[in-house]
Amino acid sequence: MTEFKIEINHTPEKKQKPAFDNLVFGKNFTDHMFEMDYTAGRGWHDPRIVPYQPLSLDPAAMIFHYGQSVFEGLKAYLTHDNEVLLFRPEKNMERLNKSNSRLCIPEVDEELALYALKELISVDRDWIPNVEGTSLYIRPFVISTEPYLGVAASNKYKFIIILSPVGAYYKEGINPVKIAVQNEYVRAVKGGTGTAKTGGNYAASLKAQELASLTGYSQVLWLDGKENKYIEEVGSMNIFFKINGEVLTPELNGSILEGITRNSVVELLKYWNVPVSERRISIEEVYQAHADGQLEEAFGTGTAAVISPIGEFFWDNKKIEINNGITGELSKKIYDTLTGIQKGTAPDPFGWSV
Ligand code: COI
Repeated sequence: MTEFKIEINHTPEKKQKPAFDNLVFGKNFTDHMFEMDYTAGRGWHDPRIVPYQPLSLDPAAMIFHYGQSVFEGLKAYLTHDNEVLLFRPEKNMERLNKSNSRLCIPEVDEELALYALKELISVDRDWIPNVEGTSLYIRPFVISTEPYLGVAASNKYKFIIILSPVGAYYKEGINPVKIAVQNEYVRAVKGGTGTAKTGGNYAASLKAQELASLTGYSQVLWLDGKENKYIEEVGSMNIFFKINGEVLTPELNGSILEGITRNSVVELLKYWNVPVSERRISIEEVYQAHADGQLEEAFGTGTAAVISPIGEFFWDNKKIEINNGITGELSKKIYDTLTGIQKGTAPDPFGWSV
């Protein structure tokens, strides 16, 4: 890999670390961050690692008004040999640029971004937790910073990477969650920004999430925005079903996020010779499969939770339970294998670990 020049300014005062055996998701941040600026006509410039600190932005900065931003999420793990492993990080950088392109943000040099991320992790290496179920969550993001109130693409941006030692994303961990099917609100539509990892998609999802929580459900199942019929995603994750021995996941149709865990699960299943299809799946089909006794498992996939089994759906006033509300065998096997590859405790026939 090319060597890039990144200035490093170490913090004079290290923070007190949280207890690694009691970590929650996304509340603690390390001692340093990576920062780089973009100015139209000059390109991306001044890549640097600096002490973790608040940003000072003009109140007219475009990010506050029109939400032109993108982000990524990936994790670093410490192996038993004290090596640091990343899981398919080049895929995140590739997707960052796809999101950038959708949001009219100038692309970043993927090799530089990856190099910066590795440099930052080595500076804050002692923040990688080594307790079972923990990891160092990495959050690269880009925001528009030009002070201007006209609706247009910004002429200035910041690319930042922050690090957060984390525990399980859902309090349920690998235990099944209860999901309410959402009929009123949609997450994304074809031609919208559903395939990009941009803050607005998550802001738009909050209302339905709030409603689901009020009725005792952990997350929302999103249906398509046109016919309100076909399954898209679950919460902020991609979704899989095991029906009569076959694993199904909605095909990438222009409104679904191209999850890296989603892709890894499909590859893994193919490697195991488990039948897997990416196609349209209607909510009726899932309920019919349940009525026929063929709905064996359902689970969400994402970087934060890896695999999140689903124990119950609620749709159209009908509740269905999956696998008696217990984590399915295949869901558990996928979780163990993926986290094993990520932590370096399972063989990695795909060469995914870096
Ligand atoms: C993930 O599953 O990794 C997500 O996208 C959730 C993240 C926004 C915290």
